[in-house]
Amino acid sequence: MTAAVAGQGRLVLQNIVRVYTSGGGFFAPKTVVDAVAGVSITLEPGETLGIVGESGSGKSTLGRIAAGIEGPSSGTVTLDGKAYAPIGSAAWRRERRGVQMVFQNPSKALDPRMSIGNQIEEAMQAHGIIRGNGRTARMEEMLALVGLPGMGARFAHQLSGGQQQRAVIARALVLEPKLVVCDEAVSALDVSVQAQIINLLNDLKARFGIGYLFISHDLGVVRHISDRIAVMQKGVIVETGNAAEVFANPQHAYTRSLLAAVPAATPAERRARERRSA
Ligand SMILES: Nc1ncnc2c1ncn2[C@@H]1O[C@H](COP(=O)(O)OP(=O)(O)O)[C@@H](O)[C@H]1O
Ligand SMILES: [Mg+2]
Repeated sequence: MTAAVAGQGRLVLQNIVRVYTSGGGFFAPKTVVDAVAGVSITLEPGETLGIVGESGSGKSTLGRIAAGIEGPSSGTVTLDGKAYAPIGSAAWRRERRGVQMVFQNPSKALDPRMSIGNQIEEAMQAHGIIRGNGRTARMEEMLALVGLPGMGARFAHQLSGGQQQRAVIARALVLEPKLVVCDEAVSALDVSVQAQIINLLNDLKARFGIGYLFISHDLGVVRHISDRIAVMQKGVIVETGNAAEVFANPQHAYTRSLLAAVPAATPAERRARERRSA
């Protein structure tokens, strides 16, 4: 598999702000939510950047902006130095191939009336990838790669939640994206299945050099996949660093409170935490 588009997939978000306003009618007072309140992050090619924070901290909003499916109120997003095209334009539709998203609920992401194989082929067709019979071979190759060999004829309801998420990942990766925004991609799965999907994502990254923006409210999940971690609270990033360092030596009180909910991975980590809380 080769890179979809020229460039490596360096994503730069600068001073991203996203404000939502609602109401403002005669009876409804106007409410303003600063979902993202000034975030600057860089995702290096082939890197996994974990975004962690409690519900409502702005992670999903940031993820949609990073993927280009929603625009910021202000700030800039560039992929390999190029700003995203205006949302809805033909150039924007072409660009979307390079940045895929995987969400929490695979049964919603899949079409219940179409086999998973056909959905993967349809994705190739939509982006003009491979012609004719080659698509079927490619679809089968992708399914084998994600651990669903020979299952192209199945429909979503014939698959477990973990298998459905594998199918979603196959459909995203057949487009050869430079990066994938995973928003709570394993949060709905059983813990043992979460580990399998994380291993799969790691294998695919090692193989194809894809980068991930890996969003989760669960620091325990994020630690197993991330090279770096950014901790988000109320629309801003309060701490960022190498994943191991953030775990070993969290600088911000909010990070420590998130960490307290996760079992320590090693005795040394547990002792370090006890020292900090002493
Ligand atoms: N489309 C929207 N319209 C209005 N408010 C929104 C919208 N999307 C998110 N919000 C608000 O923005 C804040 C951040 O939400 P979100 O990005 O979903 O956070 P998280 O993914 O961390 O839970 C929340 O207060 C949420 O209610
Ligand atoms: Mg969210």
